[in-house]
Amino acid sequence: MCEEHDGFTLWFTGLPCSGKSAVGDRVAAILKERGHRVERLDGDVVRQELTRDLGFSKKDRDENIRRVTFVAKLLSRNGVAVLTSFISPYREMRDRARKETTNFVEIYAKCPLDICIQRDVKGMYQKAIRGEIKEFTGISDPYEEPQSAEIVLETDKETVEESVQKVLRRLTELGLL
Ligand code: ADX
Repeated sequence: MCEEHDGFTLWFTGLPCSGKSAVGDRVAAILKERGHRVERLDGDVVRQELTRDLGFSKKDRDENIRRVTFVAKLLSRNGVAVLTSFISPYREMRDRARKETTNFVEIYAKCPLDICIQRDVKGMYQKAIRGEIKEFTGISDPYEEPQSAEIVLETDKETVEESVQKVLRRLTELGLL
């Protein structure tokens, strides 16, 4: 049996390869160990299932985030700790998620573009630079930085573990842990 905890929505946003998923996965594992009911909604997985039909135009990205927000809303209001990792480049859609979900916490995985390009885990930046991928965030598509995120992770300066501890500390301060 899981203990009773308040639900919340940890919304990780940032450029491709900024560290959203790495930190989110680790925080999710720790929350599970502590007895929370946890669900992960990660762009790479969700886009294989719930939003398979969508691409990367503004219209499709907005629809992607709209559907994910709906799922996060249902889960977070029922005591689940929801951790989402999406580029979610548009401020308006992130603000919409903030209004719709329970205990929304915006977490900006902040990392300079040149470092993200160096990491290029899946080689997609190089393809985008060569023009083989269109509308690629950071190269040929916009990313609107958060202006009032509850948590800013500087993933080029912190280790994953340091970022994880920063998230946990802030959640405690916010009264969510
Ligand atoms: S979002 O903009 O709609 O929030 P999401 O986080 O779901 O994006 O998906 C991003 C993932 O899709 C990236 O990690 C990358 O692997 C892949 N991807 C494929 N094409 C693109 C593109 N044009 N721009 C950004 N990511 C892309």
